[in-house]
Amino acid sequence: MKTTRLIVSEKPAHTIKTDLLVYCLIEEKHKVPSCDPYIKTTVQRAYDLGDFCAQFSEQLLTYPQLTSDNDNAHAKRILIIGMGELKADADPVDFFDILRKTGGNIAKVCEKIKADSLTVCVPDIPDIGFEKTAQFLTEGIYLGDYRFAKYKKIKTEKPEYTGLKTLNFASGVSVSAIRKGARKGLNAANAACEARDMANEPGNGWTSAEFADFAKSLSKKYGFKYTCLEKKDLVRLGMGGILAVNQGSAIPPRMVIVEYRSSADADTLLLVGKGITFDSGGISIKPGLGMEEMKYDMCGGAAVLCAMQTVGEETPDLNIVAIVPATDNMSGSHAVRPGDIIKHFNGLTSEIVNTDAEGRMILGDALSYGVQTYTPDAVIDIATLTGAVIIGLGHHHSGLMTNNETLAGKVIKAGKHAGEPVWQLPLTDEYKEQIKSDVADVKNIGGKPGGSITAAAYLSNFVGQTPWVHLDIAGTAWDFTEKSYIPKGPSGIGVRTFIDLIRNWKKGMLK
Ligand code: BES
Ligand code: MG
Ligand code: ZN
Repeated sequence: MKTTRLIVSEKPAHTIKTDLLVYCLIEEKHKVPSCDPYIKTTVQRAYDLGDFCAQFSEQLLTYPQLTSDNDNAHAKRILIIGMGELKADADPVDFFDILRKTGGNIAKVCEKIKADSLTVCVPDIPDIGFEKTAQFLTEGIYLGDYRFAKYKKIKTEKPEYTGLKTLNFASGVSVSAIRKGARKGLNAANAACEARDMANEPGNGWTSAEFADFAKSLSKKYGFKYTCLEKKDLVRLGMGGILAVNQGSAIPPRMVIVEYRSSADADTLLLVGKGITFDSGGISIKPGLGMEEMKYDMCGGAAVLCAMQTVGEETPDLNIVAIVPATDNMSGSHAVRPGDIIKHFNGLTSEIVNTDAEGRMILGDALSYGVQTYTPDAVIDIATLTGAVIIGLGHHHSGLMTNNETLAGKVIKAGKHAGEPVWQLPLTDEYKEQIKSDVADVKNIGGKPGGSITAAAYLSNFVGQTPWVHLDIAGTAWDFTEKSYIPKGPSGIGVRTFIDLIRNWKKGMLK
């Protein structure tokens, strides 16, 4: 985990010794942008010359003179960055992502100049307030300051930049609100970066055993209840879905469970994440081109466990259970065959027509076990489930399917807050027809038409009447919309949506 120190200081920003001092300015119509007196002359000159008016992502990098009598020059560099206009009729929520993107752009400058310490003068944005301004700037900076270099072993002449060591926020006012906001931003970004780290691990570096180890140490740190259902437990419980997927693998499957209890009368939320640590397709093997990306097929599992890290930090008034069914999907000599019939934990029989539709098989067991064991008020599963969702929504929205519009509305709102947009697809009864089997209760594929929805229809068999949302993140778990704070590889999608949902949970809100 990253260990950048966060300091909120009441000292004027320009008196803090730092590698980079940043001022974030709002654009004003036909006017020089308002700013701190310390940078006023610079901003005025740049504005008069037509070089800078604080449009979104516009930047001025300046170097204060270092003279012996200039005791104000504590910053080696000053970055003045534009955030665009605050439109009167715009939804303030839209500005959350402007702040994150600004944070990401700041992190990019830090990387270029190899800054150890960064100081940000917190802008006063009345419609947003200091707490949220600090929260989303922090989130953007930390998310933008992400790199995965664990497996780079050859030392180069110039040492690699390893990221920020200190982040200072400076403000003369509202220090406690800024501290609170920055802490929230930090918690969310750290959790998302942790999920990216897990996803970046290859199939031989992150197996069901690593999922279990992570959940165990998280539980120890935060006092969660930890359970790991080993292969013999899965056999005893009749979890034919995860066992079938695991049949072709040399690594045993595990169902990893982490429980956070706040109080007996609080609502209970169940989160289930697909933990396929590598998806070869099994006997219905995938084409070779791009198959290495299938190490990311555990991003749903990463999202639910990493969200629990923030739960541990923030102890919300809500009980939360996270379940990750974990295995790889391989084609060893015992592998499940197309045509095989298996029986899920809830007794449902399924004809395995395509062994590459494995996500729904492991999720079916995990969902029905979770619903039966914890009787949650709501359940959300998250999975890199179908290539079809990429055809439908591209890389800019995750797909959402539900049996409960109220819960769906809350998740959609949380995704909007988090800059992780989701788009709802219909889940009506017709789609269930496509997965009827001639020889078993259901079959595990429903053909090409509506492939994401027939996958959700399969899952709907395992949640009963419990309010349920299914998130298909196949298009967004990596290659997500390019933004300053989203790296090229895994995005950590879902983590911050869950955190927002949990932070805003009100008891009984689904009733
Ligand atoms: N993990 C894949 C889905 C996937 C594909 C995620 C591309 C990200 C990018 C899933 O297990 C899978 O293989 N799904 C099949 C289902 C099909 C056989 C019905 C698919 O989408 O092709
Ligand atoms: Mg598959
Ligand atoms: Zn898969």
